[in-house]
Amino acid sequence: MHPQPAPFALTLLGIESSCDDTSAAVVRWSEASGATILSNVIAGQTELHAAFGGVVPEIAARAHAEKLDLMVEAALAEAGLGLGALDGIAVTAGPGLIGGVLSGVMCAKGLAMGSGLPLIGVNHLAGHALTPRLTDGVAFPYLVLLVSGGHCQFLLVEAADRFHRLGGTIDDAPGEAFDKTAKLLALPQPGGPSVERTAAAGDPARFGFPRPMLDRPGCDMSFSGLKTALLRARDGCIAAEGGLRAGDRADLCAGFQAAVADVLAEKSARAIALYLERAPEQPVLAVAGGVAANATIRARLQQICAASGLRFVAPPLALCTDNAAMIAWAGIERTWLGLRDGMSLIARPRWPLDTSQAAMLGSGKKGAKA
Ligand code: KG4
Ligand code: ZN
Repeated sequence: MHPQPAPFALTLLGIESSCDDTSAAVVRWSEASGATILSNVIAGQTELHAAFGGVVPEIAARAHAEKLDLMVEAALAEAGLGLGALDGIAVTAGPGLIGGVLSGVMCAKGLAMGSGLPLIGVNHLAGHALTPRLTDGVAFPYLVLLVSGGHCQFLLVEAADRFHRLGGTIDDAPGEAFDKTAKLLALPQPGGPSVERTAAAGDPARFGFPRPMLDRPGCDMSFSGLKTALLRARDGCIAAEGGLRAGDRADLCAGFQAAVADVLAEKSARAIALYLERAPEQPVLAVAGGVAANATIRARLQQICAASGLRFVAPPLALCTDNAAMIAWAGIERTWLGLRDGMSLIARPRWPLDTSQAAMLGSGKKGAKA
């Protein structure tokens, strides 16, 4: 049960537009029923960017501006509510592609001004990190591994506004590395699912890929070297055989995936050890982000949790990837803490969750997505 007894029910609209998904959602929390997602609608932009091999910020911003009001209308209609039935409007205020974030913040400000509802700015990463409370009612403090195409970090979540970053990638995010691997092997994008499929028939030991940074203490990680190792191994196959055979592709994918899984598992074990020093009553490791869909990685994390007596929480994939329900939920949590914003709320391209730490590459947002 949540520590804040009043008000007994809260219903928030959430708005998300920090990368290439325009999303709006209505989430209600009540003392009687807990959290309920009344609607969570998403318009993706994959086709708009397909020809460019990545998200084009200007195209993304324009598409958000065109779709935001439609998504808000659809989310309210699906929830069967009008603005008058809401208690607030939560919006991603960063980090992300600034044009998209700005579109969302302006839309939310207009709605808040017109309706007189409170406006709540949410850090997109906080949205991901608080999702295990929306889906599984996880109690503070818990450990979360955010692992997607744009970020990779361990966060100790102490409260809805208190996050301690235990470590993260110093270069590429794992999803980005999966996508680059797919590109190098001429497999379809997004790379995660196609590399995972191809790896199923492969021998993970054939190429002996490195496990970067396992020889260094702490929870920081690096994935960019793996890409270079993969490139060399691929070129070695091509030089020796005059081309890449299906078996080579499978072995390369399996070797790469095993290396990522080993690094994430070992660093998770270290993060768990730091977390357990706080003697949490109900220890939990939760995952968020698209890479959490990978069965090999998921199984390794599950094993590590079982060995350390932790509950492993993996929210449904639709709530692991970018969505507005997580933003509405973070807005509810902030409302409980009495945190709200006014018309001076700004859109921020970078916004590390743990402001006690010096900014470093990968600390907030690295790739196109966060
Ligand atoms: O969380 P997400 O949808 O978007 C953000 O990055 O915010 O994550 C997308 C990333 C992509 O890089 C994709 O290749 C990766 O997650 N991904 C996977 C799998 N499914 C998606 N990586 C590994 N294995 C998968 N099965
Ligand atoms: Zn995200």
